[in-house]
Amino acid sequence: MKVLKGQEGFEAFYSEMYGERWPSLKEALLAPKKHVAVANPYAHYKFPEVPLTVDGITFDHDVRESFARPEKTHHDYMNYYLLDAASILPVEALDIHPGERVVDLCAAPGGKSFLCALKLKGQGLLVSNDRSAARRARIHRIFDDYIPKTEQKNLTITSYDATKWSLYQKSNYDKVLLDAPCSSERHVLEDSKELAMWAPGRTKAIAITQFAMLASALDIIKVGGTIVYSTCALSKLENDGIIEKLYQKRAGRFELIHQSFSFGEPTEFGWQVLPDTTGWGPFYLAVVKRVR
Ligand SMILES: C[S@@+](CC[C@H](N)C(=O)[O-])C[C@H]1O[C@@H](n2cnc3c(N)ncnc32)[C@H](O)[C@@H]1O
Repeated sequence: MKVLKGQEGFEAFYSEMYGERWPSLKEALLAPKKHVAVANPYAHYKFPEVPLTVDGITFDHDVRESFARPEKTHHDYMNYYLLDAASILPVEALDIHPGERVVDLCAAPGGKSFLCALKLKGQGLLVSNDRSAARRARIHRIFDDYIPKTEQKNLTITSYDATKWSLYQKSNYDKVLLDAPCSSERHVLEDSKELAMWAPGRTKAIAITQFAMLASALDIIKVGGTIVYSTCALSKLENDGIIEKLYQKRAGRFELIHQSFSFGEPTEFGWQVLPDTTGWGPFYLAVVKRVR
């Protein structure tokens, strides 16, 4: 059978995966992206309107055009950080407490690391890792723009390959965020060159790397610690497929924690936020607790 590639292959692959839902999903993916603004406590910024609270996180929310670009307040730090509402969920799911040892394995540009740093309140340790030097520079910039130097003593930025981390460190962290590199189909759809180059092997290859990262995460987390695995992929191979493989390859070493949120929907192993029903995402997360 001929393997379909490019735009035709992309359409065939995702229509088969999402069935009747695909046309509305595709339309929502092509709509302008919305953002929420997370107020920066270090800038002593308060939203002028009554803030909206979702899942215990307080933020103002609207389409991006409604937000002015973040800017420095008279306290010298940026007033707020803009991101997709679904991107807040993995950090909430990690349930970080001040004093814990946390690693963000694929951290750049750094939005979720910023949220993790806020949860730690200057105590414990946050290691924000990314293999790309150019992207690590963005983490440095976000930390310096948003967090006073005196509050950065527990923040470290590293450059390891997340797939190999467990070769050097074992059972060392309370919480691991693995916001993995993924197919990012929203960007593929927006970019005709990317779409023309698309092939089904792409999501399969990315899934191999993602699984290697999750297996590494399971070794570096302490027994009893929590990993949140997340992606902005639509491909199920990169979402529930990775957790299914973890069951096949690491059975008995972990259990899944099922969490639900006020927007999105459950999947077999995790939680997914899709833009056709919520206006946010796409985003997937699964919460894995190491038990052995
Ligand atoms: C989805 S992005 C992370 C977004 C980030 N968590 C945030 O919220 O701003 C994935 C990141 O993984 C990094 N990456 C890709 N392969 C990696 C590897 N083998 N080890 C470490 N980082 C890697 C990429 O450079 C990219 O910045």
